Amino acid sequence: MYGRFLYNQLFVTVPVPSTSFADQTVIITGANVGLGLEAARHITSLGAAKVILAVRNLAAGREAQQSIEASTGRSGVCEVWELDLASYASVLDFGRRAAELPRLDAVVENAALATQKYERAEGHERTITVNVISTVLLGLLLLPKLRETTQKHHPGQKPRLSVVVSEVHAWTPFPEQRSDRIFEALDDEAHARMHERYPTSKLVVILALREMVRQLRDDAVVINMINPGFCHSQLTREVSGIGIKAFKMALARSTEEGSRTLVAGAAAGPESHGQYMDCGVADSAGFSSFVRSDDGKKVQEHIWRELSEILEEIQPGVTSNL
Ligand SMILES: NC(=O)c1ccc[n+]([C@@H]2O[C@H](COP(=O)([O-])OP(=O)(O)OC[C@H]3O[C@@H](n4cnc5c(N)ncnc54)[C@H](OP(=O)(O)O)[C@@H]3O)[C@@H](O)[C@H]2O)c1
Repeated sequence: MYGRFLYNQLFVTVPVPSTSFADQTVIITGANVGLGLEAARHITSLGAAKVILAVRNLAAGREAQQSIEASTGRSGVCEVWELDLASYASVLDFGRRAAELPRLDAVVENAALATQKYERAEGHERTITVNVISTVLLGLLLLPKLRETTQKHHPGQKPRLSVVVSEVHAWTPFPEQRSDRIFEALDDEAHARMHERYPTSKLVVILALREMVRQLRDDAVVINMINPGFCHSQLTREVSGIGIKAFKMALARSTEEGSRTLVAGAAAGPESHGQYMDCGVADSAGFSSFVRSDDGKKVQEHIWRELSEILEEIQPGVTSNL
């Protein structure tokens, strides 16, 4: 598991994206900094008609928009839309607004949080709310528009829903999986394993997405999961010290190189459906052995049962968008 990570970090260069996004409308969450910003810059350069920077801080979003316009020479393409994944009302508002778009060709669900501080948002531990519940909720809300775009604009190419995950999904023991109520176990502050929470959130969202792919009623939309590898960004903002600095210096990709993996996911075809995309290439071997095991499948179904209940409480009927 660490061998593959080290090999990718040290020896693989992600190809510079070149696939055209001409005429396309693309949403990128968390596009004000880091991998999301650089992916938005690439997609704008590659000719997209509309790039929606979905951000929780509008001022930071506008700065990102100006930076993209200055570097690409393309103005009038990027729009800044408010989205706070720690608030279901904000996710629902965003979904309603996106439903008015004439078309939606690709969504990159990139925004996520890594923290060791226990806090709640919408009644759940915040990392689970942001990285799992709201991420899946947003994907479900956008599916009808993606599907409609297939019918109207894409007889040949399918719209894509890409979610940024991470190889660290394989690096958590995830003992909460043995609980009768997994989300309640994750919310239990007294026993919360916050040092493992970020990798656990990525594992839980991968399992949920695999079940979504399994239950999808048709093949109108491509859903893939992107691993950008270890990259320079703001993600480790809470972690200071010489250790992380040295680790980054030795191994991390530049933010721009990491963002190429997001663009590859957003441009990918049906071969990537349900797949893990490492270094821009669809490869299900990138899922951990647990994810691919029979035990993993049982936990996947359990997680989906509980998550569906949560999602249906937020927005009745939303899981039928599958
Ligand atoms: N960097 C890596 O080594 C690495 C490796 C594997 C996977 N990833 C994944 O790559 C993706 C991008 O991360 P990054 O490295 O670019 O980190 P980053 O620089 O910290 O960017 C994260 C983005 O998510 C946004 N975000 C956080 N909480 C949010 C919320 N409640 N609502 C809406 N947006 C929110 C942030 O907004 P603010 O600026 O307002 O906080 C920011 O735009 C994440 O999914 C991460 O898990 C990163």
